[in-house]
Parts: sequence; structure tokens; C-alpha cells
Amino acid sequence: MDSAISIIENMNFRGNAVNPFSFTAHGIHSYTAKMIPQISKYLIENFSQKGDLVLDPFCGSGTTLLEANLIGRNALGIDINPLSVLISQVKTSKFDVETAKPAIMETIEVIDKFNDTCRVKFPNIDYWFNTDAKDELYRIKTGIEAQKKYLDSTIYRFLLLCFSSIIRKSSNADPYMGKTYKSKRVVKKIASGWRPAPIQYFKDAVNRNLERISATYNGKDITANTQAIHGDAKRVSKVLDEKGFSMIDLVVTSPPYINAQDYFRSYKLELWWLGLATPEQVIALNKKAIGTEYIFEHNYDAAPQTDCIILNDVLIKIWSKPKMGRRKSYLVANYFESMNAFFEEVNHILPKNKYFCLITGNNTICEVEIPTFRILAYLAEEKGFKLERLFRDEIKWRVLFKNRNHNGGVINEEWITVFKKVR
Ligand SMILES: C[S@@+](CC[C@H](N)C(=O)[O-])C[C@H]1O[C@@H](n2cnc3c(N)ncnc32)[C@H](O)[C@@H]1O
Repeated sequence: MDSAISIIENMNFRGNAVNPFSFTAHGIHSYTAKMIPQISKYLIENFSQKGDLVLDPFCGSGTTLLEANLIGRNALGIDINPLSVLISQVKTSKFDVETAKPAIMETIEVIDKFNDTCRVKFPNIDYWFNTDAKDELYRIKTGIEAQKKYLDSTIYRFLLLCFSSIIRKSSNADPYMGKTYKSKRVVKKIASGWRPAPIQYFKDAVNRNLERISATYNGKDITANTQAIHGDAKRVSKVLDEKGFSMIDLVVTSPPYINAQDYFRSYKLELWWLGLATPEQVIALNKKAIGTEYIFEHNYDAAPQTDCIILNDVLIKIWSKPKMGRRKSYLVANYFESMNAFFEEVNHILPKNKYFCLITGNNTICEVEIPTFRILAYLAEEKGFKLERLFRDEIKWRVLFKNRNHNGGVINEEWITVFKKVR
């Protein structure tokens, strides 16, 4: 491994600052494993110039994109999850709140007048929503769609996102769980008479989110732009080609964790209600996601083998574990294979001497600790990047949910690797 890897710079990116998620556009919608904005800001400030184009190919809720715009960089985000694209678009839309208010209020009046019963159907809808909640959600969605032709596309998306932000809270799924899951806690809450009030939640969300947009953009002259697009990071050069982008100045990204998150299972209710993906499309997208539970290998007779010695060592340890070990070792191998393909793509799109910043955490799978950032650093160096800086930051706020069988492992520090493209 490169000698630079031994120089670890310990950082405290959170400092004593108040969590910015609650009162700025960063807090407009929940998203699991959101990065803290301070990390993106630091990297963008130090490794790019004003007017540059910053790419986040796993943009999630758009943290990097917003931070880039706030300090005068244009931003481009890609994500496989259509909900993430919507969040990123809304978070970075710099509309004037006062000008937008009349159209928003009119939409709310239309919603208040609707009296229809729900005509939306998706698997187990009655398990996830009681009849009143379902009807109210239907009225909100129908109201927004009915007003679409009178609304600026930015405001239409803003309202859709406010709607999305209250779906989990209006459902029988536990809002504190990563996955969409009816916990004992929620069953008890329902039995004690709890009834959700989606239309009221929606109005509250609209007001809060207008304040967040206002707090983020009002009085600032921000000319930088963002585009967020749906796509697969493993094919990022093709996605950029199709959209006509030729020049990227900096890549800042926090890729998915191995086996720790299932963004599609977590957000299926939102995706279905918004009509962003059908149940079949959700399954198909999940298969393309990096870190997915889906693997196509069925013969686990020997541990997977790669060209990376540290990785092979980890794979054999996992493979030797009873029960899930064999399957999980293939899942881990699959993750690094996908990340390797991704590094190759980044090498194609980034000019020489430009920087590529990767924010990762180590995982524990089947009780085996995986030095994720070290393995990724090795793979990136093989693909023409040189590790220049290495930061370590302790996680305090990042909301990470373990999956229910606890195989995702706890992640309590983050590693920020800064590479320069050298060949
Ligand atoms: C750790 S999250 C990024 C969080 C983001 N930095 C934020 O602050 O919200 C990783 C993201 O990678 C996305 N993802 C997974 N596989 C992908 C793929 N093949 N192509 C593009 N995005 C993918 C997931 O949908 C998720 O949004």
C-alpha cells in the first residue's frame, strides 16, 4: 500500500456546530446514511475552484450537490434511486419562497376540497395504511397532480417531495427503522388509538420546508447550478456522454456500504405512492444497486478469489463462518467487484491531476471486520489514482440503520480518502 496511507489526519468535521439537517434545505427529506455537509464542503473548498463542475455519482439526498452550489461550484448528481434524484433536485432548487406561496396555497385549498376515496393500488396497501390515511394521502397526491398544469415544475416537485416526506409517518411502518417494517412498538401505538393525519402533516411539511429553502437561499446570489439524473454509477461515463457532459473537475462521493442499506426496501412506500417506480421496477433497480443483497452466484464451494490479497484474506474468513458465511463472502466480493468497475469509470471521466474524494466506513460482516477503505484505496490505486490525503472522522450523527439480522455491522468512524488521478 502507498506510504501516504500511514499519514492519518484526524478531523472533527462536526465540531460543536448545530446539526444543519434540521433548519436548512439539507433537512428537506430523510435519507438513510446522509453524509454530513461539512465533509462535502471541506473537500469541495480544498480540491476544486469556483465555477468547477463537481460530480457525486452516488448522490443520495444531494448533500454534496447543495454544498457545491453554496460555494460557487456547479454540481452533477447521479443515483440509481429515483427518489434520491427527486430529493436532490428539490434541495438544490433555488426558488423564491414568497413568489411561490400563492400557487402552493392554492394547491392546498384544492386538496382540502377533495373528498375522494383512494384509488391507488399496490401490494399490501391495506397492511401499510389504514383507510383514512390512505384516502387522505390519495387526496394530497391527486390535488398536486390536478394543479400540475398551473405549477412551475420546481414547485410541483417541491410539493411532491413534501408529500413523500410524510408517507412513512402516515403509515403503519416504524418511522425509526431503516427498512419498511411494522414493529411491535407501532403495533402497540395503533392499538392505543393512534391515528395519522396526513393532510395536516403535509401542510406542516410544506411550511417547514419553505422555511428551509428560505434559510438556505434567501439573500444569497447563487448562480451555480445542479443537475440530478437517474443512472447507474457503474456506467457513469455513458450516463455523462448521453447527457452531453465532457468535463468533470472533482468527484466527491460516499458510496453505498456493503450490505448495510437497502435503499429500495426502505423507500418502497414513497416510490410507489409517488409513481416513481412500480413494485417490479423497485426489484429490478435493487438488483443494480451496489451493496445489494442480490447475488447471482449459487455455488459457494470455495471462497471467492480476487487480485487483492487483503480482500482475499477477509473473504476466506467470512466464507469460513457458519450459517451465512459462504453466501456473505460472495456478497462482499461482489461489492468490491462493482466498486472496481466504478473506479475504472471514474478514471475515464476525470482528467489527469484532478481529485477524487471517497467517504467510506469499515464494516463488520459475520463478525469479520472489513478494512473497506484500505481495500478500496488499493483498488483505486490499481486503476490509476494516487492516494494523496487520508482523513479519519468519528461518526456522531450519520443515521445508519443496521439490517434486521444485524449483518450490516456498526459503523462508527468515517474514512475520507483523497486521490489524484495520475494515469
Ligand atoms: C451512502 S448513500 C449516499 C448518501 C449521500 N452522500 C447523502 O448525503 O445523502 C449511497 C447512494 O448510492 C446509491 N446507489 C447504490 N447503487 C448505485 C449505483 N449502482 N449507481 C448509482 N447510485 C447507486 C444509493 O441509492 C444511495 O443513494
